[in-house]
Amino acid sequence: MSNIFPGSAMPDPDWWQELWPHPAQTVALLGVIPGMFVVDLCCGDGLFTLSMAKLASKVVAIDLDPEMLKRMQAKLDAAGMRNCSAVEGNSYDVGKLAGMNADMVVMANTFHGVPDKTRLCQAVASALKPAGQFVVVNWHRRPREETTVLEQPRGPKTEMRMEPEDVAAIAAPAASILSPQSSFRPFTTP
Ligand SMILES: C[S@@+](CC[C@H](N)C(=O)[O-])C[C@H]1O[C@@H](n2cnc3c(N)ncnc32)[C@H](O)[C@@H]1O
Repeated sequence: MSNIFPGSAMPDPDWWQELWPHPAQTVALLGVIPGMFVVDLCCGDGLFTLSMAKLASKVVAIDLDPEMLKRMQAKLDAAGMRNCSAVEGNSYDVGKLAGMNADMVVMANTFHGVPDKTRLCQAVASALKPAGQFVVVNWHRRPREETTVLEQPRGPKTEMRMEPEDVAAIAAPAASILSPQSSFRPFTTP
């Protein structure tokens, strides 16, 4: 998969679940509410997708890796959720892959690795309704050796990390920015 973004492989479930023990709460904090059409961009194995599907009316979950989509689908099937479509493809094509304009596009734990972030933001803008929101969950710019989970340094390389203001500055030309948000977890920001 040559198009996979650097530093964006799906983490091992042991420490990932330790870092994100309450995905439903996280998804609610991101602003997902009933009635929404949400795109989970780079959904991975569906940790957040399941909670999105439980809250929103419709979810499209996009990933480049078919194995991730299979795992995501298994979680949704086990929960009896039928309002989520799995779509294999590159995030840069989100405008086409989403199928219709979304209320919200969520990219969790992946934006740091996108080589052409301006292009990605433009693609996301094209996938959103006029008042739609692009929500990025990212690692703060803290040294990697300080962000330990299960006693090991975790997350992307220090130099790849971004503060909310950095993300907002890149996204600004593609869309109007509401507000860069503060932390809701020790290492990551909505
Ligand atoms: C670090 S994981 C995050 C998964 C999920 N968002 C989460 O927070 O649990 C990043 C995911 O992005 C996917 N990915 C990487 N590059 C991609 C691309 N160019 N287009 C679509 N998906 C991509 C990977 O396959 C992986 O599943």
